[in-house]
Amino acid sequence: MSLIEFKNVSHSYGKCLALNRLSFEIVDNKITAVIGKSGSGKSTLLQVINGLIKPNEGDVIIFGRQLNYKDIYKTRLKIGYSVQGTGLFPHLSVYNNIAILGKITNQSKHNIERRIDTLMSFVNLPPNFKTKYPHQLSGGEQQRVGLCRAMLLNPPVFLLDEAFAALDPHNRAEIHNELLQLQIAEPRTIILVTHDLNEALKLADYIMILDNGVLQQYSTKEIVVNDPANDFVRNYFAAQSL
Ligand SMILES: Nc1ncnc2c1ncn2[C@@H]1O[C@H](COP(=O)(O)OP(=O)(O)OP(=O)(O)O)[C@@H](O)[C@H]1O
Ligand SMILES: [Mg+2]
Repeated sequence: MSLIEFKNVSHSYGKCLALNRLSFEIVDNKITAVIGKSGSGKSTLLQVINGLIKPNEGDVIIFGRQLNYKDIYKTRLKIGYSVQGTGLFPHLSVYNNIAILGKITNQSKHNIERRIDTLMSFVNLPPNFKTKYPHQLSGGEQQRVGLCRAMLLNPPVFLLDEAFAALDPHNRAEIHNELLQLQIAEPRTIILVTHDLNEALKLADYIMILDNGVLQQYSTKEIVVNDPANDFVRNYFAAQSL
């Protein structure tokens, strides 16, 4: 059994078919990179996993159960989600943005503080940033706060939507390495949406390629690179390595 399974999932926004009959099982405790052109359905896919979007058709099975939209809150606590952009609350300090799920689930102040210190040092945010507000931070710093928030409850599933896109190359490489270290120490199921093929190749165990909401290939990184399933995948790799 996989923690995340889709059976014939389709979703349209009006006339726009964003996901087209997707069926797959995500491999547990591995990093899966979802790649594809802008508008191919990557963010929609993550929103369906997180229950933010109820697809028009198909079955979404999370943690071994059909996703229950009436009781979605409990499931979401086990899914860390770092949204595209940052999704920070502008009126809350960095500390309170990161702490929010800890407070909602009644964790002790001491535990929240300890966890926030660990996470902020993990993403290289100085401790004195806790009292700053999002508008006082750079885009890359805001993204790192978003990552800390998503990791606060140590969720078994972690969804990252372009989470490293606004980081400079040095910080990005550092966080990549930290993520890989963390994955060795505490493996979890990570789905990473990225535009950056090098990032996917560096971090992912599995690669899923979407085009116009259609799954083109989902396999180990080695198979996708060495044995593209079709011309689309072949051309995608050829275009990216130009
Ligand atoms: N809320 C919405 N209402 C209407 N159409 C939408 C909405 N969200 C997404 N779409 C459309 O659905 C398609 C898939 O969008 P999605 O955001 O999943 O793409 P993406 O692969 O994440 O793109 P990007 O790489 O630019 O982030 C696009 O054609 C987009 O215009
Ligand atoms: Mg997107």
